[in-house]
Amino acid sequence: MNEITLLEGIRTLRAVREFTDEPVSDEQIATMLDLAACAPSGGNRQPWHFVVIRDPATRRAIRDHYLEVFRRYRQDVLRQAAEGHPAAQAQVARWERSGSPDAFAENLDRIPVLILVCLDRQRLGFGSADPAEPLPPTAWASIYPAVQNLLLAAHGLGLGAVLTTLHMPHEREVQALLGIPPTSIPPRWCRSAIRGGSTGRRAASRRPSARTASAGAPADSGLPGVGAGLP
Ligand SMILES: Cc1cc2nc3c(=O)[nH]c(=O)nc-3n(C[C@H](O)[C@H](O)[C@H](O)COP(=O)(O)O)c2cc1C
Repeated sequence: MNEITLLEGIRTLRAVREFTDEPVSDEQIATMLDLAACAPSGGNRQPWHFVVIRDPATRRAIRDHYLEVFRRYRQDVLRQAAEGHPAAQAQVARWERSGSPDAFAENLDRIPVLILVCLDRQRLGFGSADPAEPLPPTAWASIYPAVQNLLLAAHGLGLGAVLTTLHMPHEREVQALLGIPPTSIPPRWCRSAIRGGSTGRRAASRRPSARTASAGAPADSGLPGVGAGLP
């Protein structure tokens, strides 16, 4: 495969919802996770944990949650389009062009790897510790740069990917399925630089992905509770 430049990669990154059976290697996943973790975050708190899901039964359970919400979401978009909302109309037109708008949701379990990106409230250190309490918008701003890096890294490796959020009304069920604690606490932290993350310049100071990713539930971080505020 030809290498893609950074600028070209940013320009050509697209949501990919069609997948082949080609396997995704552990090495490719490790590269994606390393690059995702180069992202900036408020106070460099790095409040992310990546759960790599390959287990077919877990993928099916997540598909079921996703599909249920997608069907409701689809009805909402169709209603908005019927009411004359231009962006909803454009979305419906795209669905119609793609032929089978439900196919992605129905086949979500056939995607070989799902990566669940968790926001660790304790590591972030602001907002309430209560998972029922909504987080301030700036909290979410500390996770989506890592998600974008993950998508760009997949693209750079020639892998298709799409960011999805429709499972989120079933967040509690997905957490329970994977055994993730409500604050999605990662392993004990370690501030070491990851190597090779930038082109000839100093690599960003980030926790290594061995600490920020797991195939199952993250271990307890042992961090103090929230409320410390960002430095
Ligand atoms: C916050 C956010 C949530 C999204 N949630 C979903 C989702 O649940 N399912 C999905 O298929 N795509 C989802 N997407 C992907 C968008 O639909 C996609 O990025 C957008 O339509 C642009 O597509 P394009 O890159 O192919 O032009 C989400 C994107 C963002 C930024």
